[in-house]
Amino acid sequence: MKDQIRTRWSLDAANYNRSTQSTWNSRRAKSAWESIFKDLLGTDVQLVLDVGTGPGFIAFLLAELGKKVVGIDLSEDMIKIANRNAKELGFNVDFKVSDAENLPFDDESFDAVVNRHVLWTLPNPERATHEWKRVLRPGGTLIIIDGNWNYNYKNSINKKIWRYLAAPIVIVTEKRIPRKTKLDQDIKQKLWSSGNSRPGDDIKILKKLGFRNVEVDPNINKRTQSLLDYIKLGYWGDTFLVTGVK
Ligand SMILES: C[S@@+](CC[C@H](N)C(=O)[O-])C[C@H]1O[C@@H](n2cnc3c(N)ncnc32)[C@H](O)[C@@H]1O
Repeated sequence: MKDQIRTRWSLDAANYNRSTQSTWNSRRAKSAWESIFKDLLGTDVQLVLDVGTGPGFIAFLLAELGKKVVGIDLSEDMIKIANRNAKELGFNVDFKVSDAENLPFDDESFDAVVNRHVLWTLPNPERATHEWKRVLRPGGTLIIIDGNWNYNYKNSINKKIWRYLAAPIVIVTEKRIPRKTKLDQDIKQKLWSSGNSRPGDDIKILKKLGFRNVEVDPNINKRTQSLLDYIKLGYWGDTFLVTGVK
C-alpha cells in the first residue's frame, strides 16, 4: 500500500509542484496561509516539522515567518523538487525522505508539527498521529490541515460533473491537468479517509491519544479560497484545520 502511495505521489510530483506554485504566486492566498500560521504558532515556536512537505510550500511559508523548518516526505521525487524550489527561492530548509508514520527524530524534538493535505493519504492515521505526538515537546502544537475530499468525491455526481466542466480553468490557472488515474482509484478504495467522517474522526483520534485543547477552525476555506477557487469546485471546499496541544 505504501509503495503504491509513494509511486502515486512521485508520478504526480511535477504536476503538483505547478499547482502549489500558483498558490505561492498568489499574494492573496499566500498571505492568508501566512496569517493562519502566524495566529497559530506565534513567536515562541522555533523548530517546526512539516510532515508530507511535497514541493515545500508550507515549509517555505514557515521559514519566511522566521521558523527553523524540517520537511519530510515519502517521495524522493517530491524532496528533489522541494530542494530545487528552496535553492531557487533562497530558503534554508532541511528536507529529508522519510515516512510520516515512522520518523527518524528523537522524542520531543519539535515545538510544532504541521501537515497540510497529508493525513488523508496515509494508511494508518492513528500510527501517524501517535508518531507526531512522540516528536512534539510537551506543550507543543499539532496542526492538521486536511480535507474531506474522498467522502464527497464518492458521494456526489454533481461535483464530478462540475469538476469536469471546470477542468479548463484548472489547466490554465494552475498549469496542471486535473486527472484521476487508475492508481488513484485503487488507493482511494483502500484509504481510511474514504469511509470516515472528518474532521470528527480526526478529533476522536487526537483526544484518544491524549492531545489537549483539540479544536477545529471552521473558517479555513473562506480564509484561504478565492472566488476563482470557488468556481473551480462549485463550493467553498472541504478543507478543515484541527489543532491539538501535547
Ligand atoms: C497532497 S500532497 C501535500 C503536500 C504539501 N503538504 C502541501 O500542502 O503542498 C501529499 C504529500 O504527502 C506525501 N506523503 C504521502 N504518504 C506519506 C508518508 N507515509 N510519509 C510522508 N509523506 C507522505 C506525498 O508524497 C505528498 O508529497
